[in-house]
Amino acid sequence: MSDQNTGTKSSNAMWGGRFADGPDALMEAINASIGYDRRLAPQDVEGSRAHAAMLAATGILTDSDAELIREGLLTVLSEIEAGNFAFSTALEDIHMNIEARLKELLGEPAGRLHTARSRNDQVATDFKLWTRDQFDAMDAGLTALMKVFVAQAEAGPDMVMPGFTHLQTAQPVTWGHHMMAYVEMFARDRSRVRDARARMNESPLGAAALAGTGFAIDRHMTAETLGFDRPSANSLDAVSDRDFALEFLTTSSICAMHLSRFAEELVIWASAQFRFVTLSDRFSTGSSIMPQKKNPDAAELLRAKVGRIVGATVALLTVMKGLPLAYSKDMQEDKEQVFDAADSMMLSLAAMTGMVADLRPNAEVLRAAAASGFSTATDLADWLVREANLPFRDAHHATGALVKMAEDRGCDLADLTLEDMQSVNPSITSGVFDVLTVEASVASRISYGGTSPERVREQIARWKEALA
Ligand code: ARG
Repeated sequence: MSDQNTGTKSSNAMWGGRFADGPDALMEAINASIGYDRRLAPQDVEGSRAHAAMLAATGILTDSDAELIREGLLTVLSEIEAGNFAFSTALEDIHMNIEARLKELLGEPAGRLHTARSRNDQVATDFKLWTRDQFDAMDAGLTALMKVFVAQAEAGPDMVMPGFTHLQTAQPVTWGHHMMAYVEMFARDRSRVRDARARMNESPLGAAALAGTGFAIDRHMTAETLGFDRPSANSLDAVSDRDFALEFLTTSSICAMHLSRFAEELVIWASAQFRFVTLSDRFSTGSSIMPQKKNPDAAELLRAKVGRIVGATVALLTVMKGLPLAYSKDMQEDKEQVFDAADSMMLSLAAMTGMVADLRPNAEVLRAAAASGFSTATDLADWLVREANLPFRDAHHATGALVKMAEDRGCDLADLTLEDMQSVNPSITSGVFDVLTVEASVASRISYGGTSPERVREQIARWKEALA
């Protein structure tokens, strides 16, 4: 994209009336946002077209001027989209770049567009429209992701795998249960997206610089045209508020954190030591030196993305902290953070969706791992409580002794004889062996939300209906 530097010598065409000298090159460099806010061109045109229509409807502009402006704005946008627009650093930002081009195209009427408006409400409007689209994209991305997790769960509601705490074998769980845990997490993310989207959907347009305007504008009209629920209620707040961007970032941070947790599980599970899952070739890479390698790069990058999204969150919070009302130029530093975080977020959601769709659990390996590490010790203790009427603490102690015995012999709990069992507690009967299999263990966990296949099937059915 070309960048013509037009304003270093003469004063700025948009606001230079009181200036004799043009800005220093360094001033221009630190001041300009056009390098990145050109992304807001479609929103800027949409906002300006709504504003022009409203100015005509309220009699502030003639219908013919408004029509010229509205058409001219579409021409400018098509130039930008076609890549034949000469962006100017001297014109600072997307708002003034578009307006200046409109002036070239239309002459005098273009200068009437900025009546009853300021760049302060203009940028707030543009950025809100842009961020609102990102909330919607995130909503759709999360829905797609939840669907592939549900599909994974459906493939294994009774596939047994080890459940971990402290990454140590804890109790057997089912693959379906583990997958559905992520569905719950992403459902909370989606609900945060929806909350924030509903909260942010108020139009700043017409707040003008900060105080409102003396022109008889109709803020309800522009709000409605732009798909906002209502105009924001306080003009000072309207131009000062970046909560919508912060909520996008905090919501994204939590979601990216969730993605990083599953990404980490995938990295572990795909290792030669675990072999719990096979990642598709489509989401793996090779090594340039070690021919045997199949690396989980996508998962690793998904594990990392949270870093830059949280970084953007902290950056913008720090920019906004302590800013007096109303607009300050500090706030121009909002966009790059949100753009970068949004790009990372959408790419992460799409990549995780693809990776999960392709993922293949290795049922045999999962089952064998579930049976190791004395994973049914809790079932044995529970049996002693239920069948031998032991207090749970005593049952825990007796089971611990049996685990020690099996460990010393290098065998599993189920490999101990009845005599071995009775040497620790004489009231144990052969019925105890029924609860020592991993299948019996998961089947017994029928409490609401538990890992038993029947409970997991209920969770799957509930989400399938909700996502249909
Ligand atoms: N480029 C500016 C931004 O992104 C637009 C608003 C400028 N307002 C002003 N009063 N200088 O924040």
